[in-house]
Amino acid sequence: MRNFELYNPTRLIFGENLHDRITDLIPQNSKVLLAYGGGSIFKNGVYEKVSKALMPFEVVEFGGIEPNPRFETLMKAVQLIREKQIDFILAVGGGSVIDGVKFISAAVKFEGDPIQILQQRLLIKDPQQVVPFGAVVTLPATGSEMNSGGVITIEATHEKLSFGGEALFPVFSIADPTVIQSLPKRQLQNGVVDSFVHVLEQYLTYKHDAFLQDRIAEGILQTLIEIGPQVIQKPEDYTLASNFMWCCTMALNGLLNKGVPTDWVTHMIGHELTAMYEIDHARTLAIIGPNLYKVMFETKKEKLAQYGERVWGITGKSEEETAREAIEKTIAFYHAVGIDTKISEYTSQYQQSAETIVNRFKQRNWIAMGEKQNITPLEIEKIVEMAY
Ligand code: NZQ
Ligand code: ZN
Repeated sequence: MRNFELYNPTRLIFGENLHDRITDLIPQNSKVLLAYGGGSIFKNGVYEKVSKALMPFEVVEFGGIEPNPRFETLMKAVQLIREKQIDFILAVGGGSVIDGVKFISAAVKFEGDPIQILQQRLLIKDPQQVVPFGAVVTLPATGSEMNSGGVITIEATHEKLSFGGEALFPVFSIADPTVIQSLPKRQLQNGVVDSFVHVLEQYLTYKHDAFLQDRIAEGILQTLIEIGPQVIQKPEDYTLASNFMWCCTMALNGLLNKGVPTDWVTHMIGHELTAMYEIDHARTLAIIGPNLYKVMFETKKEKLAQYGERVWGITGKSEEETAREAIEKTIAFYHAVGIDTKISEYTSQYQQSAETIVNRFKQRNWIAMGEKQNITPLEIEKIVEMAY
């Protein structure tokens, strides 16, 4: 196993009716910014629960953080925090609101133009240089409630860029599985696929000797296969909802990648598709992932075969056949949860996408990626073209 260091300071408060905990977890006398998205929290009761817990504090509200949060919008919150001298931020929403708050937290005290945090992918490490924040997660998918990364879109250039650093873990996160009852089906589908692909990014590489990490990854994948299609139909079922929410958090809270190689190129290409066409994040992963496994088949086939055997129960076939069937099973799973896997099913303007993405990656010097640094512009072009 590779050497590793594990650090995750987020206090995860998981279960029903635990919003009251917020009152004790925010330092007394704090002035709090309550940050949210497009208003779903006013319709599903979350705003009332959070407001009750925030009664002892002076609260300033900032709404309107969009899905795929915009740098330009977040800078308005940065301004507000500086003006009102806010001490603590509470993010109430899905991955977009939580990511947005991570950026706001990093930008308030940043010396220079905060756009550099994104454009130069600066690591934010110093806890003195951020505004502390907590989260109330309302959409299980990204794991943002228990990790220190985020992805922000710059409207002006249509770029979607990631950032992070160990100072950007939420101090606490409230994860109440009953909140998924108000989610549109589309977002439930997204959550199943996004969390599934988070595991695959950290698992579908090559064979290694970190046995426990593989078994944890396979456990999450099997659980998502078992409950994913059901939770979309019955989000009011607490057993399904709680297991789903925990899978999503566990898929990207920094446990799975310890001591193992990771890939993440499906995400990197996916972000470009969202930036260009505003396709939902999870859907871009379903479009790109299977084609990446096909193009990188030689590199990944041993692990694909392990995935085929252990997760999909394929037996009695050659390594190559098992690996290929595992890819087909994965595509069928995405279809079974209602997610299309071709770019052309989302936009008719896709013809230039391979060329555009290759050019952007070259400009950023992203020319040798993946677990073996063998995903070059040539492979990127093939992967995207196969996804048309
Ligand atoms: O904005 P509101 O009104 O709250 O509505 C949201 C939004 O329209 C709605 N929603 C959220 N919770 C709801 C609800 N509607 C009804 N009931 C609820 N309980 O759902 C819509 C989508 O929300 P969004 O936050 O955009 O979705 P998600 O959680 O999937 O986040 C996607 C963003 O996270 C990034 C993605 O790139 C994308 O920008 N990611 C963040 C990661 C991380 N921080 O580690 C990793 C991921 O790979 C991903 O890249
Ligand atoms: Zn993702």
